[in-house]
Order: sequence, then C-alpha cells, then structure tokens
Amino acid sequence: MGFHSRKFGALLGFLTFSSLLWSGFCSRAHVPRNVLHSRATAEDETLPAYKDSSLCINDRVEDLLGRMTLEEKAGQMFHAMLYVGPNGTLDQGDDTRNSTDFVMGTQLLTHFNLVGDITDAKETATFYNRIQQRAAETRLGIPVTLSSDPRHHFTENIGTGFDAGRFSQWPETLGLAALRDASLVKKFAEIAREEYLAVGIRAALHPQVDLSTEPRWARISGTFGEDATLTAELLTAYIQGFQGDKLGPYSVTTVTKHFPGGGPMENGEDSHFVYGKNETYPGNNLQYHLIPFKAAIAAGARQMMPYYSRPIGTEFEPVGFSFNKEIVTDLLRDELGFEGIVVTDWGLITDTTIRGQYMPARAWGVENLSELDRAARILDAGCDQFGGETRPELIVQLVNEGVIDEARLDVSVRRLLREKFVLGLFDNPYVDAAAAARVVGNDYFVRLGSEAQRRAYTLLTNGNDTLPLRSVGADTKFYIEGFNATFLENRNLTVVSKPEDADYALLRLAAPYEPRPGGFESSFHAGSLEFSAEERERQDAIYKAVPTIVDMMLDRPAAVPEVAEGAVAMLASFGSSSEAFLDVVFGVYEPEGKLPYDLPRSDAAAEAGMEDVPFDTRDPVFKFGHGLRYKDRCADGTEGNGLVAQGVRR
Ligand SMILES: *[C@@H]1O[C@H](CO)[C@@H](O)[C@H](O)[C@H]1NC(C)=O
Ligand SMILES: *[C@@H]1O[C@H](CO)[C@@H](O)[C@H](O)[C@H]1NC(C)=O
Ligand SMILES: *[C@@H]1O[C@H](CO)[C@@H](O)[C@H](O)[C@H]1NC(C)=O
Ligand SMILES: *[C@@H]1O[C@H](CO)[C@@H](O)[C@H](O)[C@H]1NC(C)=O
Ligand SMILES: *[C@@H]1O[C@H](CO)[C@@H](O)[C@H](O)[C@H]1NC(C)=O
Ligand SMILES: *[C@@H]1O[C@H](CO)[C@@H](O)[C@H](O)[C@H]1NC(C)=O
Ligand SMILES: *[C@@H]1O[C@H](CO)[C@@H](O)[C@H](O)[C@H]1NC(C)=O
Repeated sequence: MGFHSRKFGALLGFLTFSSLLWSGFCSRAHVPRNVLHSRATAEDETLPAYKDSSLCINDRVEDLLGRMTLEEKAGQMFHAMLYVGPNGTLDQGDDTRNSTDFVMGTQLLTHFNLVGDITDAKETATFYNRIQQRAAETRLGIPVTLSSDPRHHFTENIGTGFDAGRFSQWPETLGLAALRDASLVKKFAEIAREEYLAVGIRAALHPQVDLSTEPRWARISGTFGEDATLTAELLTAYIQGFQGDKLGPYSVTTVTKHFPGGGPMENGEDSHFVYGKNETYPGNNLQYHLIPFKAAIAAGARQMMPYYSRPIGTEFEPVGFSFNKEIVTDLLRDELGFEGIVVTDWGLITDTTIRGQYMPARAWGVENLSELDRAARILDAGCDQFGGETRPELIVQLVNEGVIDEARLDVSVRRLLREKFVLGLFDNPYVDAAAAARVVGNDYFVRLGSEAQRRAYTLLTNGNDTLPLRSVGADTKFYIEGFNATFLENRNLTVVSKPEDADYALLRLAAPYEPRPGGFESSFHAGSLEFSAEERERQDAIYKAVPTIVDMMLDRPAAVPEVAEGAVAMLASFGSSSEAFLDVVFGVYEPEGKLPYDLPRSDAAAEAGMEDVPFDTRDPVFKFGHGLRYKDRCADGTEGNGLVAQGVRR
C-alpha cells in the first residue's frame, strides 16, 4: 500500500499547515476504524496512526493513548515551570529544581509555562525549537505545549505577571476595561496571539475574569474590574481573539481563571498565602461571580483554572477549589456544562520556595493530607492537570496501589492530548526563529499597544480645565515625581527641584498599599488603600505650593479623596509608560477611559462593604463609569489636535 508512504505523510503535514484539514477534511469517513488499526500495526515502524495527520483527531488520540505507559500518562498530567538556560540552552537545574532534560526525558512532562522575560524573540523561538527537539527524542515524541502568564501589559510590578519585554505593551486588562471596547480587546488578543505564536507559546494562562468586588485584593489589576456584564462582554472578545473562531494550528488556547471567581477574598487578602485562604460570600452572591465563567464557556473557553481559595460560609465543603468535587465536577462540569481541561493553580501538593520565600503547598482545608492523598483528592474532584508541580510518581503510585483507576487518568489524558492535536503540535511543533524576530514587537503592534496605553487614561478631576497643558514652553517650570526628568527635557521643557519654583507639578504615584515582606509576597500590593498620614502631609505641601497634576496607577481602587481634592487635576492609569502620561498631559492624546470599579472613600468603607457584592461601597469618591473628557478647544466644533500645542512635538 503506497497510500501511506512517507512522502504522502509529509505532504499531508504541509496541508495541515495550510489549515485545510481543520475545516473538517479527514479520512475518517473513508477508512473504517478496524482498517486504521491494522494499518497502524503494519506500519508501526514508519508512521504510527497518531502521527498520521490524515486521520481524525479522535482516532489519533485513541491510538496514542493505547501506546502509552502509566508513566507516560502521568507525565501528561503535570504542567511545570520552564526555565531557559544560558544562551537559550536547556536549563541544567539547581538545588531547587531538576534539569529540563530530566523533567522531559525521565518524568516525561510535556506541558510547561515559560518563566522569565523575553528580551529577544529569536532567542526564545530558538530555545522553543530546542525544547521540541528534545521532546521528539522521547519514546513517543509527544510535543511540548508551552504556556505563559500575561506578558503584554505595561507593568512595573512583576510577580503575578511579567514585563512585556519585547512584546507590544498594552495597558493592563483594567485599562482595556476602562475603554469599554470589545473590538479593541479582540484586536489586542489577536496581536498577543501572533506574538505568542511566533515564539511557540500556545497556551495563555489567562484571561483572569475574577470580579473586583473586594477592593483590597492584590490581584485586581489583571481583571476587567467590578462589573460582571462588562467582564463577560470583554472576555468573550478576548477568548475569540486568542483562540480564533475555532481552535486550530494558528490558535492560542486560553485558560480562564480563577473558577468560581477569586474576587471575594476575605478581608481582601490573597490565597497564595496562609492568612488568605478564605473566599467568602457574606452577600450570598456567588452567582454574580459565575456570570463571567458562563460567558467564557459560551465563548468556547478550552481550559479553566480554579483558584487556591476555599469557600467559607456556603453550602460547599470548605476546601480549596481544586480539591473540591462540588465545585469542579458538580458545578463547573455538570451544572455549567464545561467539557474542557481543568488545570489547578500552581503548587497545591508540594511545599516550595518562590523567589527565596518558603511557600507551603496551597492545600487549603486539606493541609493535613499527605502529598499522595492531596493528589488523589484533586483527581477525585475532577481536575485534569496539576499546575506548577513535577510529581508524576505520585500518580503512578496511586494507580499501582489501586486508589485511582487508570481509566480515570485516561479521561484527563485524552483531553490533554486532544488539545495538542487540535493545536497542530503533532504535525509541526516548530517555529521560524527568523520570522519571530520580525513579528514580535513590530511597529504596528507596538503602536496599537502604545495608543491603548494613552487612550485608557481616565480623567477623574480637571479643575479649571487645566488639562491638557497647551500653553507651555521652555520657560514653563515643572516639579516632577515618579518619572525621569529626561522625558520632559527631551520635549525642551524645564524641570526644577522644588515645588515652590515650579509652574506645575507632575506626580506619577503608585496607588497606596502596605508593603509585605518576602521575596514573593512583596510583589502583592495588599492591605490599606489609604496613604499614611505622613505621605498625605507630604503631598499636601506640594498641592498647596503649585498646581499639581497627579497620575495614579490604579492597580487597586485607591481610597484617596484627599488627592482628588488637593490636586488640580487627577488622572487614573492602568499600566502606561511615562511618554504615554506626558502625551495625555499635553493633549497629544485625550484620556478616554471610564473607571472599571468604584473608588472607595476609606479603608473603613472598604471594610464595611461585602467581599462578594459589587458597587456596595458607601459614598464612593468616584463611581464605576466616571471619566471626564477634555474640553473641546475649537469653538467651531471641529476637533482639536494636541500635536500642534506649543512646545509639544513628538
Ligand atoms: C554564551 O554565549 C556567549 C557568546 O557567544 C559566550 O561567550 C558564553 O560563554 C556562552 N555561555 C554559555 C554558558 O554557554
Ligand atoms: C528531582 O526529581 C526527583 C524524582 O522525582 C525528586 O525526588 C527530587 O526531589 C527532584 N529534585 C528537585 C531538586 O526538585
Ligand atoms: C477562614 O474561615 C474560618 C472559618 O470561619 C476561620 O476559622 C478562619 O480563621 C478564617 N481565616 C483563615 C485565614 O483561615
Ligand atoms: C491538622 O492537624 C493539626 C495537628 O494535628 C490539628 O491541630 C488541625 O486541627 C488539623 N487541621 C485540620 C484542617 O484538620
Ligand atoms: C481655578 O481658578 C481660580 C481663579 O484663578 C482659582 O481661584 C481656583 O483655585 C482654581 N481652581 C482650581 C481647582 O485650581
Ligand atoms: C533617566 O534617563 C536617562 C536617559 O535615558 C538615564 O541615563 C538615567 O539613568 C535615568 N535616570 C534615572 C534616575 O532613572
Ligand atoms: C528642542 O530644541 C532643539 C534646539 O532648539 C531643537 O533642535 C529640537 O527640535 C527641539 N525638540 C523638540 C521636541 O521640540
């Protein structure tokens, strides 16, 4: 039978790339199953059925599953961090982690999230190809699926996200929410997809669709804000942008998180940490937090991640969501009808060290279980994959001891393999490293991201229509904080060192938070939403000395009525460069944002609000949707153009 010659296989591989096969063309209709099997046996040496791209995905999955050892199945069920070694080599490991070669070759993992900045797309793409080459050398040659936390948002706070590095830089999702523009969100996601694809990232560990109903929570900046309906609308565009209309070889699959909504954190603490285990529902409002997840499922979300937290004061057992069968199986799968992959949040089984800080396993409510029993609970709850862990030996032991049926593993491994096939990874996992350098961070992508940073600015106050500053020149003196004087000097503007000597003060301020100790914990901006008395006094002196324009990076809804009162104008931003800030100040761009949440009046007001209830902060300083516009400068009704303002050119 010449039908399955190597050449024909290769030709089909090429056709797959042209995505012809994904429109439904495959040979299932023509080749009965039993024939497939006999041929696979006969041609084992040349082309096993699972590698034959002319066959239907379900048949390829079953063929592969049938060949896998218990150890190979267990390896699929782990999704671990992947470090890049020197010069893009495979990481050799250290005291805290095994080498990549060991994790791939011995522990047989094929799902990894890339950690560390991407500073050179070509290098990253080359590294990615090297990883796939290593995967090809394993017994079955199962390709790697590479995932990533968000990398496209301008942020100075790494920890739960990454510096944008060489990718185009956009505001945080909060900024996209401020623009209320689903088509922009889709464009963002399509561009992020192209940049991911170029370096081999095929799974997005996002969107984060938690609702910011508790303003003190440290992870609000990665959400779409407080409103379930707006979040649902935007996440739909987001998922469609990354995945496309239908998941295929040009898609990035998405992991929607954190089921069933990580927003209602007790006292606003976070469940990465022992003191923040509890998700709480004093307003009996869990249903509100499910709205985004229902929208995600309707939009074709492929994967879900439950949060670390345990539900307190509900009908559900108070154990972490991934250990919780009532949450994962009864609610997510049976009630909401989710059929995709459930991957746990990182590190539920094994104690570890993150950036020098000891972190116990986030086994909330089941702390006393052994590592083995934790793994069994997670499987029993209905999860498919263990995030941030490399413990396949536990799964092997559970099956060997008869605690877990191998058939239970098959249910999850089938889902996981299927995703790889649909993404086209079995047909061609490699990327073109030279092309990556052209795609990633190209001028067009960068410009759209830069524009979004500027447009997402949200104008909270504008006394006497001070903004934009149009009549400024070399003799106008600025007192500045929070950014580099070079940015003004490059615009031929003068910077002075004392507020009293200035015509205007420009302050870029971080929203208030309480610094926490620890290498990892310190990146979480938690606690009080108010500035200290000393800091208020310090700022007040500036406000009294000179008309002051404040730009506050609202990674959380700050409680700063005194800034709104004291500054002549106040802007909110959601991840933006200093150049973006100045372009808005000088009217090159107009701020178009609207607040994606209420701004509470005080810590007391935040505390009085219920964690799970939106828009219940009493007497907010500004409400959801607040956002002023610049006064139209042109009396004849035509639009102004800030570019011509005196002294301000780009
Ligand atoms: C990385 O590459 C540089 C430049 O080619 C070389 O000098 C250096 O020794 C390399 N480092 C490693 C660890 O291979
Ligand atoms: C490496 O893997 C082995 C086998 O799973 C494990 O016992 C060991 O703790 C791992 N080493 C590190 C540093 O994680
Ligand atoms: C969580 O809720 C439980 C039950 O109400 C309570 O005992 C515990 O102190 C709360 N906080 C933490 C961090 O567990
Ligand atoms: C875990 O064990 C400790 C010590 O035996 C005990 O005090 C604690 O109540 C147990 N916790 C749970 C959640 O069962
Ligand atoms: C607006 O201008 C008037 C007159 O110059 C001044 O008295 C007032 O303080 C200004 N208001 C603000 C908010 O700066
Ligand atoms: C400001 O920018 C200049 C030019 O880019 C740089 O040399 C200088 O180190 C920066 N200063 C600070 C405080 O970041
Ligand atoms: C700043 O002034 C210099 C010298 O007059 C001029 O060459 C340059 O174009 C000016 N830059 C801007 C941004 O106006």
